[in-house]
Amino acid sequence: MDMAKVQPRSGEHNLTDIDVQREGFDWEEIKKDFSWYHTGKVNVAYEAIDRHAENPHKKDQVALLYSAPNREESVTFEQLSKQSNQTANILKKYGIGKSDRVFLFMPRTPEFYANFFGILKVGAIAGPLFEAFMEQAVRDRLADSEAMMLITTPELIHRVPVKELPALEKIILIGNSTDMKDEQYISYEEEIKEASEAFDIEWVDREDGMLIHYTSGSTGKPKGVYHAHNAMIQHYATGKWVLDLKEDDTYWCTADPGWVTGTSYGIFAPWLNGITNVIRGGRFSPESWYETLEKHQVTVWYTAPTALRKFVSAGDDIVSKYDLSNLRHLLSVGEPLNPEVITWGLRTLNLRIHDTWWMTETGAMLIVNVPSMEIRPGSMGKPIPGIEAAIIDHEGNKLPPNQMGNLAIKKGWPSMMRAIWNNPSKFDSYFIKDWYVSGDSAYMDEDGYFWFQGRLDDVINTSGERVGPFEVESKLIEHQAVSEAGVIGKPDPERGEIIKAFITLNPGYEASDELLEAIRQFVKTSLSAHAAPREIEIKDSIPKTRSGKIMRRLLKSWELGLPTGDTSTLEE
Ligand code: WT7
Repeated sequence: MDMAKVQPRSGEHNLTDIDVQREGFDWEEIKKDFSWYHTGKVNVAYEAIDRHAENPHKKDQVALLYSAPNREESVTFEQLSKQSNQTANILKKYGIGKSDRVFLFMPRTPEFYANFFGILKVGAIAGPLFEAFMEQAVRDRLADSEAMMLITTPELIHRVPVKELPALEKIILIGNSTDMKDEQYISYEEEIKEASEAFDIEWVDREDGMLIHYTSGSTGKPKGVYHAHNAMIQHYATGKWVLDLKEDDTYWCTADPGWVTGTSYGIFAPWLNGITNVIRGGRFSPESWYETLEKHQVTVWYTAPTALRKFVSAGDDIVSKYDLSNLRHLLSVGEPLNPEVITWGLRTLNLRIHDTWWMTETGAMLIVNVPSMEIRPGSMGKPIPGIEAAIIDHEGNKLPPNQMGNLAIKKGWPSMMRAIWNNPSKFDSYFIKDWYVSGDSAYMDEDGYFWFQGRLDDVINTSGERVGPFEVESKLIEHQAVSEAGVIGKPDPERGEIIKAFITLNPGYEASDELLEAIRQFVKTSLSAHAAPREIEIKDSIPKTRSGKIMRRLLKSWELGLPTGDTSTLEE
């Protein structure tokens, strides 16, 4: 079905060209907006926070507008600068410096953000962990990154296997706890009383490390995607061009800072642009999110299809109870944006929903819809200035329009990951010739719009969260009842995909609802809730190749009742 195209939005646009693929664009144009362009002194924490705190016209502006069921708070740029200086002083006192890894495993509170910038201010590399991670997920990440310091809470410390992490020297605990007797622990409350609000920021090189986000692939443990300070160039530019941020906007990005959207666009893009940033703690419900939009008079909102689909299901009546008239710009990321959702946005909010495509590895948006562009529902849009995207074959040859293939980006954009932590060969495997290969299949139409088709590997996207089947399979077979496991993404109208596991049982175990629920809980409590299979099916055997690889594609074909294709490599 060819849906009606949605006409460009009227009004002033930060990216004025109708065609975003501007010829002859040079990132140099953007660099001039940064203070380091003139002083030579680089640190993203300075550009995002301290620069505004030093500006008499900006220092008292609210940077962070925090709202949770039990807590409301406004933090100005000056306050955030001072609070992050305090954290930086604590970290420095305990010997943290350039390129050390400091992880954050704590709820999304104002302290999270002050600590995050404190880490960057001493030149260290921040590793934000999603609060819902359970022991194994936490251990894998802290061990792989050889984190030296962890900032966490008494509630969450029980999921950190401290004894199994030899590199971990100190743990800062926020909130009182009896664990404090151990000299490995540092009390945040005690230290903050003494810590100075002044700090000499550590200047770094633009190529120095800033951030590690772990993300899943189809094989092996999560990969540490390593980003450098240089990424700020693209965070800032896309904040202007795509989020369309203007001086007096109030902006809300719903993503958690444990995922890349929650840092690139929940932290860097808004604050590099000096914008008031809404942070919401607590759980999701359509009512509470509408309330947040209304109460804070949000003007620009960046969210995800999985949330938008829930708004659609919640019905038009709910929307009409709220005054959302301040909202002027709405964007989406993480999964395909269904054309029906775009129709809903036009009908209920009178707003276009702007899809954006990028990945943890790309660090920032690459293919987007901006206000000055026509939207073609179902398409992810076009590359931003400075980005060359193409559909290529396995040899790195460009394919003509309308032909499906690998979505690839010409190497060398500012926010591209600089490494996979401790794994150079994994990093190399992303590239064919000069192309970064995304692993997404897509095609480009005659007018340069890109259309997402699916993943080329077995990576699962459930409610916008990327889950590697291997990790879930490995966890499943740790359960005493499970012999073998194969895990796939099964299409789901609300979640995009759900995780479905096929297992075989060890001798002596009988299939029962209780057993399946126990297995599910086992994954949930040791890995994380979003990685737990919603469906588990018991099989007599799991299809494998002769070399022992699980044939997930075959499992998926069976599940969907599709032809099974080439099974010549199937084991007897
Ligand atoms: C994968 C990356 C950094 C954004 C949050 C997810 C899928 C992302 C879209 C989109 C269709 C999308 C892709 C991509 N994806 N945006 N607009 N339309 N699919 O980051 O966890 O690294 O996942 O999410 O499959 O490869 P991520």
